[in-house]
Amino acid sequence: MRFENKVAVVTGGASGIGAATVKRLAAEGASVMLADLNDGPGQALVDTLPAGKASYRHVDVAVQEEVEGLIEATVAEFGGLDILVNNAGIGSLAETPDLTPEDWHKVIAVDLHSIYYACRVAIPEMRKRGGGAIVNTASISGLFGDYGFSVYNAAKGAVINYTKSMAIDHGKDNIRINAICPGLIKTGLTEEGLLAGPVADHWQAGIPIGRYGTPEEMANVICFLASDEASFMTGSIVVADGGQTAHTGQPNLTKLMQELS
Ligand SMILES: NC(=O)c1ccc[n+]([C@@H]2O[C@H](COP(=O)([O-])OP(=O)(O)OC[C@H]3O[C@@H](n4cnc5c(N)ncnc54)[C@H](O)[C@@H]3O)[C@@H](O)[C@H]2O)c1
Repeated sequence: MRFENKVAVVTGGASGIGAATVKRLAAEGASVMLADLNDGPGQALVDTLPAGKASYRHVDVAVQEEVEGLIEATVAEFGGLDILVNNAGIGSLAETPDLTPEDWHKVIAVDLHSIYYACRVAIPEMRKRGGGAIVNTASISGLFGDYGFSVYNAAKGAVINYTKSMAIDHGKDNIRINAICPGLIKTGLTEEGLLAGPVADHWQAGIPIGRYGTPEEMANVICFLASDEASFMTGSIVVADGGQTAHTGQPNLTKLMQELS
């Protein structure tokens, strides 16, 4: 029960990594405000949690007023704010000349601006409680480039450095700010299209552990970073990717030479 008497907000909590995080926070005692655009699954998840300990709110995290309303509503309903998980995110598959300005602005707004909107109003609330923890869902795509992920790479790279910047500013407030960099995780974001058919086999072949990760494996890391167990961690960028970014990208020579011999 690491989160007893704690109040948490999770954006993008209706699905995938966010939903697994909501479940884990609630199971360990937190009151949770789940924010998403996807009302049906969001409300359905809240309905499975103990009455009075969880709420769903329709929020477009790209819209500043809606994010501010989310933090205000959380404080009004649960009495304060201790944990913020900035998790909502979207991707886009296009090289720069084919990327429309609308898509560029949308991905940057959802993946990056949302974190500024939320932290701007959440940090003062956390100060009132004497501290808090913020976990941003970045990506291994914020550490390196991917073919065709131009704007997603830009947004997630910015999330990583913004996490470090806020961490150093708010150490004095006893607010720890960390980011997780998931590798390939089987969620709504990846299931449709990207993980369909042969693409999944090729992709998983590049992961030393030999499989994609699960939302629950990411929730384990997020909840660790949000908990007092991570009390000396701030500005940390925690990779959870089955070893995908541990290698240089060079071919697997032992395998290749066996195949060629
Ligand atoms: N799945 C992966 O392989 C992977 C890898 C690295 C990073 N991530 C990141 O993890 C986070 C969660 O993604 P996921 O894989 O669980 O995907 P998902 O699609 O299952 O969940 C994302 C949730 O965010 C919500 N959302 C999208 N736009 C929103 C908006 N404007 N306002 C409010 N909610 C919005 C969606 O409705 C959805 O419920 C994202 O930030 C994503 O970039 C995912």
